[in-house]
Amino acid sequence: MTIKIGLFGLGTVGSGLLTLLAEQNNKIKASTGLDFTVKTALVSTLTKDRPGLDPAIQLTTDPNDILNDPEIDLVVEVAGGTGSAKGWIKSALSSKKPVITANKDLIATAGQELIELANKAQVPLLYEAAVAGGIPIITTLQNYYRTDTIRSLAGIVNGTTNYMLTQMAQNGLSYEKALKQAQELGFAEADPTNDVAGYDAAYKAIILARLVFGLESTLDELAITGIQEITDDDIAAVKVLGGQLKLLFTINQVGEDSIALSVSPQVILPDSPLSQVHNENNAIVVNSDNLGQTMYYGPGAGARPTAQAVLADILLAATATKESHQVFSSENMRLAEPNVQAYCWILNSKTHESIESAVHELDDELNGYIVRQGSHENSNNGSQLVLYTKEITTANHDRLLKELTQKRTLNKEFVIYPC
Ligand SMILES: NC(=O)c1ccc[n+]([C@@H]2O[C@H](COP(=O)([O-])OP(=O)(O)OC[C@H]3O[C@@H](n4cnc5c(N)ncnc54)[C@H](OP(=O)(O)O)[C@@H]3O)[C@@H](O)[C@H]2O)c1
Repeated sequence: MTIKIGLFGLGTVGSGLLTLLAEQNNKIKASTGLDFTVKTALVSTLTKDRPGLDPAIQLTTDPNDILNDPEIDLVVEVAGGTGSAKGWIKSALSSKKPVITANKDLIATAGQELIELANKAQVPLLYEAAVAGGIPIITTLQNYYRTDTIRSLAGIVNGTTNYMLTQMAQNGLSYEKALKQAQELGFAEADPTNDVAGYDAAYKAIILARLVFGLESTLDELAITGIQEITDDDIAAVKVLGGQLKLLFTINQVGEDSIALSVSPQVILPDSPLSQVHNENNAIVVNSDNLGQTMYYGPGAGARPTAQAVLADILLAATATKESHQVFSSENMRLAEPNVQAYCWILNSKTHESIESAVHELDDELNGYIVRQGSHENSNNGSQLVLYTKEITTANHDRLLKELTQKRTLNKEFVIYPC
């Protein structure tokens, strides 16, 4: 049986999909009897040079050539953006065409509406490629964890920032040099704001939190910190005790009906599996009742890994049940602050002794919250003391902060990262 695909977008992911279809179609046909073929592809410029493009594929700039074509069985949206793409997907779902998309911005911001529409139309809306393109995390969460209960997720889902932070820590590159190198290698766009400010990671976290916990949230409700303020001194300071800075999302269930969700640079200690995730790679750690901690690791983006996620979804849409976008919790989940958190403090001072004595003067209870410390000379010939706290409540963290900052000998400049 032939399945005709309408393809919105023929850029990095769209042309990657054509390559994979050409390579894998015989295998897919042999195992499923299905023959996938792209009938029409929507682009913005018809005159663009597209070397190697199969002349049988009709190129168009009119979305209706796909949406109104009764021969097209399934729609793939890999054009991007949240404007037109939303209309195309709604229209396709309304005419009962399954939709596969890689569009994280759209699924994060309008996912609930589109999922409801897909459920109503009883057609699949699949978006594996929207989160950590090369890691089959959505399908795994939707299917394998049906018999388990997830308590938290955390991970590195932005390859650009992970590449930059790895290069800064391992090769001593400055922020600017690391960004330039990421751009030259195609990991960062000309305008890197979405990546370095943490918005891209936040979109992915929003998608995961909805999928796993049924939490509906928006970018402006979340605590998002990017990597722009990280200094060479911070990177060197956390290294003193073997730590690394990485841009992490965390999603934690903190009560029956509340979820804490954040995106920020965090200190990763050597015993965390995330400490092994370097350069453009992504990883997601899932904590669940039956499995405990599991980590899913792989490439986060790129033509081939992302197109693989799209192709796997195409096959799923053509062969599987229609329930794959179901969330796990039907509770009315709301956003909350984390109840406990461990921290890494980097305290700057002109002299090493002044910080040490400030810490020594803390009473036993506050001192007991500090689990590790080390020191390091910063780039201004001053001293940096690195303190790691236990997981503590916000109230106790505030007390500790107040006590230490009241010490007259301490320079008030310090940096705090969650860890
Ligand atoms: N690249 C990755 O590694 C990756 C990874 C995960 C997810 N994604 C997501 O996948 C989607 C596509 O990314 P990409 O990197 O493949 O993008 P891209 O290389 O910029 O390609 C976009 C394609 O869509 C077409 N297009 C864009 N807007 C259009 C419009 N309004 N009307 C008609 N055609 C339009 C472009 O036409 P022309 O060819 O004529 O310019 C181009 O073919 C995005 O949502 C992105 O976030 C990408």
